[in-house]
Amino acid sequence: MKLNIALLAGDGIGPEVIDQAVKVCNAVAEKYNHEINWTPALTGAAAIDAVGEPYPDDTHEICLAADAVLFGAIGHPRFDNDPSAKVRPEQGLLKMRQKLGLFANVRPTFTFPSLIDKSPLKRERIEGTDLIFLRELTSGIYFGERGRLDNGDTAFDTCTYKRHEVQRLAKKGFELAMTRSKKLCCVDKANVLETSRLWRETVQAMEKDYPEVTVSYEFVDAVAMRLVQWPNSYDVLITENLFGDILTDEASVISGSMGLMPSASVGTKAKLYEPIHGSYPQAAGKDIANPLATVLSAAMMFEDFKLTDEAQAIRDAVNKSLEQGYVTEDLADGGKSFKTSEVGNWLAKNI
Ligand code: IPM
Ligand code: MN
Repeated sequence: MKLNIALLAGDGIGPEVIDQAVKVCNAVAEKYNHEINWTPALTGAAAIDAVGEPYPDDTHEICLAADAVLFGAIGHPRFDNDPSAKVRPEQGLLKMRQKLGLFANVRPTFTFPSLIDKSPLKRERIEGTDLIFLRELTSGIYFGERGRLDNGDTAFDTCTYKRHEVQRLAKKGFELAMTRSKKLCCVDKANVLETSRLWRETVQAMEKDYPEVTVSYEFVDAVAMRLVQWPNSYDVLITENLFGDILTDEASVISGSMGLMPSASVGTKAKLYEPIHGSYPQAAGKDIANPLATVLSAAMMFEDFKLTDEAQAIRDAVNKSLEQGYVTEDLADGGKSFKTSEVGNWLAKNI
């Protein structure tokens, strides 16, 4: 197969973790006879520095033309502490998600047998966890009107959802549930928020089209609690943009490290694969960041190309590296650890 992949390394540790994913993908291509053409493009603070804009039109064209986009991370501390910054790297991420129509963010949470005791949660609570969040990604409070009133003393952000936005996300949720244990949880705050009532009403109306799927409706605060109490009672969860952002960071604790959790964003115009972690600026350039979330995001990409063996080869190599302790310092418990680039080389060799 011939694959054209746009490569958006971004900021902070982005370039370092992306480099390892490229090594691993190239090893997969060699072993299974594929040809991958990588097209790098600018995004984030790196793009602001180069062309004054975090998601330049050239980058958008490259993403549209590609079969998939592999993305690192975006964000730079020099913008975080400057409330007056006119343009922020994160705006590039939001613009990219919206312009590429990436309305569904697929974030799986699973445990690795060799890491189960690394989680701060008890083994018996998390063992066997295998759940997937579908986070709505192109609407809600992230994209609503926001601003200041009263000479800056009042601030507002607005959350808006349209029925069709809920329907298309929920449809993916029902379809995914049908391929798994046929359990779907709609996470909302329908006891307070009107947007949540629209979510609930829309999902309820869709239940008749999927009679085999059992749907539960749960409030986000209760889910935040049950997620760490009994994570393996969940299977597929659908939720709006902000709730999904928060709950998936929480869920990463189950696996033992945020540096392990991959994601895929899909929708109308493109497919994008990225780790759920951020740009981790404190580690940038030090060759210490964990590349596994990005490598596992690449596995999700192969899976979506229906290249199942290739995806499995990546997951097997990752599992082997964890079992043999060939890991970066975040997973080494003060013991022997390896550099980001060493882990990447090892994985590529073990494909
Ligand atoms: C994520 C990130 C982004 C988000 C930030 C960087 C804007 O936290 O992908 O989860 O909030 O969506
Ligand atoms: Mn987040």
